Amino acid sequence: MRKLVVAIDGPAGAGKSTVAQMAAKELGFTYIDTGAMYRAVAWKSLQQGKTVTDDLINDVVKDIDIVLNYKEGKTKVFVDGTEVTAAIRTPEVTGIVSQVAALGPVRERLTDLQRKMATQGSVIMDGRDIATNVLPNADIKIFLTASIEERADRRYKEMKAKGYDVDLKKLQEEIAARDKADSEREISPLVQAEDAELLDTSDMSIEEVVKAILDRCR
Ligand code: C5P
Repeated sequence: MRKLVVAIDGPAGAGKSTVAQMAAKELGFTYIDTGAMYRAVAWKSLQQGKTVTDDLINDVVKDIDIVLNYKEGKTKVFVDGTEVTAAIRTPEVTGIVSQVAALGPVRERLTDLQRKMATQGSVIMDGRDIATNVLPNADIKIFLTASIEERADRRYKEMKAKGYDVDLKKLQEEIAARDKADSEREISPLVQAEDAELLDTSDMSIEEVVKAILDRCR
């Protein structure tokens, strides 16, 4: 198969990373989780006690070393040599990540890195601005979404399984707030690209969504 670039965008909790990882494994592609990269910057700024301001831009993003190690359907995330795979998924990181992701220098640095990562063979990259900004020439563009109720429910089960004591209603509010922040920011907001295909997964199983992606790639 020739080199193929697949861009998957969509709101929080749509299941992008779950299905993208599975599809990438099936196809032997590299999976690039750009949300994890924004989370990595948010995690490091919390570690350093930074508020989401210019401090962050100068000290955190300038020399942060982010490595995504994708193997056998799973991604391990490293920041400056430390594994942060679980640490970037805490409610604390989730609570500030959209603010961090709205900063121009953060987006510039990470977009640059993401484009470099996409040159290494066939890839599936997921995020918020992949089809519109990072890889506008992607071969396949999918906008993955689901109803807010369904997305909150999925996230609730995921967090419960990880041992977090979560409240479904609060989770729904947090997801809605993150979608609003991501859609309304000035730089590269979350929006369906004109040439992206809309895939509403509200009534689809994970396997059905993966199959839909595989069908488009084959
Ligand atoms: O995908 P995930 O929910 O882990 O992304 C976390 C956050 O990172 C998003 O809510 C968004 O603020 C930011 N993000 C972004 N652009 C991307 C990927 C993620 O702004 N391409």
